[in-house]
Amino acid sequence: MGNLAGRVAMITGGGSGIGRATALIMAGRGADIAVVDLNGVGAEETAARVRALGRRALVFAIDVSDGAAVRAAGAKTEAEWGAIDILCNNAGIASDRRPVEEVTEEFFDRQIAVHAKGALFATQAAVPGMKRRRYGKIVNTSSVNGTVGFQNCGAYNAAKGALLAMAKGWAKEFAPWNIAVNVVAPGEVMTPMPMAHDSPELMARIAEGIPLKRYAQPEEIGYAIAYLCSPEADFVTGQVLSPNGGAVIT
Ligand SMILES: NC(=O)c1ccc[n+]([C@@H]2O[C@H](COP(=O)([O-])OP(=O)(O)OC[C@H]3O[C@@H](n4cnc5c(N)ncnc54)[C@H](O)[C@@H]3O)[C@@H](O)[C@H]2O)c1
Repeated sequence: MGNLAGRVAMITGGGSGIGRATALIMAGRGADIAVVDLNGVGAEETAARVRALGRRALVFAIDVSDGAAVRAAGAKTEAEWGAIDILCNNAGIASDRRPVEEVTEEFFDRQIAVHAKGALFATQAAVPGMKRRRYGKIVNTSSVNGTVGFQNCGAYNAAKGALLAMAKGWAKEFAPWNIAVNVVAPGEVMTPMPMAHDSPELMARIAEGIPLKRYAQPEEIGYAIAYLCSPEADFVTGQVLSPNGGAVIT
């Protein structure tokens, strides 16, 4: 059994890409997984693969920006399995890719709703139980957009910056209850998100500009998240781990 044996992890955006990879890595290390995703088909596929690894899975096909739905998912997970030990605030949508003049209020609001409010609602759902049990690991999936910013991505930068800043404050707020809060800030990752928006030619050009000359595989981000949620990281809180192939070196 792995280093997450007996733990319960709730992973938002667990139906695809980084979230699915994280779910399968954590299940392989002994965790049961509550998969939260707007895309119910993707979430069910992840759940089936978790069960094939011998762990339990729950599926919540909900929008993380719906506070009542997220609270209900948290309550059901605790009722069924007794705890949420690990929360990965990972659900996300693609960035602006447009000049600031073309960013609509609706687009900006949706970025904040999915990334920032989604993480807030899930954290509100998980933290009371974590406090009672005096144990918890929370990881927010930000981005290098949140640490250094990119042009033509103002709304996404803002949303990813919010995830980073909220995690730092929560790390201080929850430390008295032994709840660690950290951030993973990936660079380019080969998932459906960029593949749906960027041409293969553009992705090849972007890869050329990365010191390691390639995109990450989603598992390479999942391993970083799994580490931050493991006993090996018990003294790590309020930190930013940025697997980015050397694209951002600070
Ligand atoms: N792929 C990259 O290059 C990259 C880089 C840095 C950060 N990120 C971040 O990583 C996270 C995961 O992205 P990914 O690359 O795996 O993309 P992805 O599209 O493969 O997965 C994102 C998942 O989130 C789900 N989702 C979207 N909106 C939701 C909502 N409102 N409620 C519930 N679920 C919702 C989608 O259905 C999808 O399954 C995102 O937060 C993204 O911003 C990705």
